[in-house]
Amino acid sequence: MNARAERRAAPKPARVPAGDRPTYPSDEGLSSVWNGANKRIHMQEVGTRDGLQVEEAFVPTEDKIALVNALSQAGMAKIEVTAFVSPQAIPALRDAEIVLREIERQPGVVYTALVPNVRGAERAIEAHADELNLVMSASESHNLANLRMTREQSFGVLSQVAALARRANVAVNISLSCSFGCPMEGDVPDSTVLDWARRFVEEIGARGVTLCDTTGMAYPGQVAALTQAFRKRWPDTELTLHFHNTRGMGLANVLAAIDAGADRFDASLGGIGGCPYAPGATGNVCSEEIVHALELMGYDTGVDLARLIDTSKRLPALIGHDIPSQIVKAGRRLDLHRVPADFEAIRERAHARNT
Ligand code: COA
Ligand code: ZN
Repeated sequence: MNARAERRAAPKPARVPAGDRPTYPSDEGLSSVWNGANKRIHMQEVGTRDGLQVEEAFVPTEDKIALVNALSQAGMAKIEVTAFVSPQAIPALRDAEIVLREIERQPGVVYTALVPNVRGAERAIEAHADELNLVMSASESHNLANLRMTREQSFGVLSQVAALARRANVAVNISLSCSFGCPMEGDVPDSTVLDWARRFVEEIGARGVTLCDTTGMAYPGQVAALTQAFRKRWPDTELTLHFHNTRGMGLANVLAAIDAGADRFDASLGGIGGCPYAPGATGNVCSEEIVHALELMGYDTGVDLARLIDTSKRLPALIGHDIPSQIVKAGRRLDLHRVPADFEAIRERAHARNT
């Protein structure tokens, strides 16, 4: 079939029903990433883990619990509630057990927790995590700095943790830090990233893999290529993309990934976050910015944006500083402003000029 016949034969993308989002006459002609056509994008909140782990202020346990509850009520598909790491390494999350135990669980929401080793896995399983998010780095230097092990040693530990999780009937996701570059080593070859992914899927049997852009080095062409390569090789593995907005490419990277077949994204409330062991790291892509943009494009994120924004507005008081969120700063696209106080006088003067 030639290209034109193929286009004619292709089913028309479904129209997005009128709702919050205007529909344009040109919608039906739009293809691929620009027309969400109600496609579900799974939003996975990491603000209470990736976000809070770098904060100097210790957010009180009851406020963390309230944040997680608000996020699940807002419709997040998955929430990375906390991390079961050494409290000396990450003091901000030293209350992991209590937080995970005391949240109100919404049916359908997956409550996951970051786990670096067997000790962390035992703690997370004991506190009833639905999923363990194991972590290692695609770069040897970052793995040593962050986890104090070589990558091979980390892989050995992850294999043990996965065996423990299997026995406890808890799902396993593996996050591969620095998949799009390392702040100390530079580019990490795609072949290295895909080989670790292969070992996670084929040797460990992970349900999901997250490719993490730990310090915002990813750019859209690279994201599209790696996402496409992953999807092609492991179509049945849950693939998540985890971007930081360090260089302002976060949303562009999300769109590049969707175009290449991804439908799961980590994001952080208010855009807070960063790895304390990665030089120059800053916040994740901002949950409310991503939801706002994707809903305008006709994607179904399942998230109540108004609730999400209200929750994000609580953050500055909890962490003691301003947050990156452009949506909290500027409001939604159609949050309109009053006309100037002397508007009538301006109008009259302008009209008088015409006569
Ligand atoms: N939970 C609680 N305590 C833990 C722990 C865990 N998962 N893992 C280790 N510890 C404790 C040990 O009991 C030990 O305590 P002690 O000094 O009182 O005896 C101490 O931490 C050091 O343990 P050790 O096994 O020697 O680990 P380490 O010093 O080599 O540290 C990590 C390895 C990975 C556990 C630690 O560096 C860590 O938790 N890092 C956090 C990484 C992180 O979250 N980065 C950001 C997210 S990507
Ligand atoms: Zn991160």
